[in-house]
Amino acid sequence: MAERTLIIVKPDAVHRHLVGEIIGRFEKKGLKLVAAKFMQLTEKQAHQVYAVHRGKAFFEPLVKFLSSAPILVTVWEGEGVIEMSRKIMGTTFGFSAEPGSIRGDFSCSERYNLVHGSDSPESAQQEIEMFFKPNEIINYTPN
Ligand code: RTP
Ligand code: MG
Repeated sequence: MAERTLIIVKPDAVHRHLVGEIIGRFEKKGLKLVAAKFMQLTEKQAHQVYAVHRGKAFFEPLVKFLSSAPILVTVWEGEGVIEMSRKIMGTTFGFSAEPGSIRGDFSCSERYNLVHGSDSPESAQQEIEMFFKPNEIINYTPN
C-alpha cells in the first residue's frame, strides 16, 4: 500500500481563513488527497493526537488550543508523502520556519503554527486510524 500521512489544518488556520491556502499547497505539489473531515475535537481526542507530548510544559495549552475550534483533518497518499509534507509545512516554530513553507510564510508563533503532519509511518497509521474508518479513505486514480 502507498505511504499515507495525516495532515490537520489547525484552529488558527480556520480563524485566519487560511484553510484553502494550506490545502492548496499540498494539492499544487501534486500530492493525492484521499480523505477529509471538518470537525471539532473534544479535549480527550486532542490529548490522544498529541499523546507523545504528555507531561511536557506545552502539552495542556496545546490540547486546549487544538480542541478550541474546528479543524480540517485530511489524509494524503503517495511515495515519500510524510517527508514531503513535513517540508511543505516547514519546521515546528513559525518564527524560524523557512520562507516558502506554510509555517514560514504564515506563522511567527510556537503554538499557533497552522498545521500538523504525521512524523513517521507508525504515527501516520495510528493517527489515521484515530479519525477514519477504512471505507472513509477513498481509492481512486487521478487522471
Ligand atoms: P506537529 O506535531 O503539530 O506537526 O508539529 P511538529 O511535529 O513540528 O512539532 P512537535 O514537536 O510534534 O510539537 C507538537 C506541537 O506542539 C506545539 N509546541 N509548542 N515550546 C512550545 O511551546 C511548543 N513546542 C511544541 C506546536 O504547536 C507543535 O506543532
Ligand atoms: Mg509532531
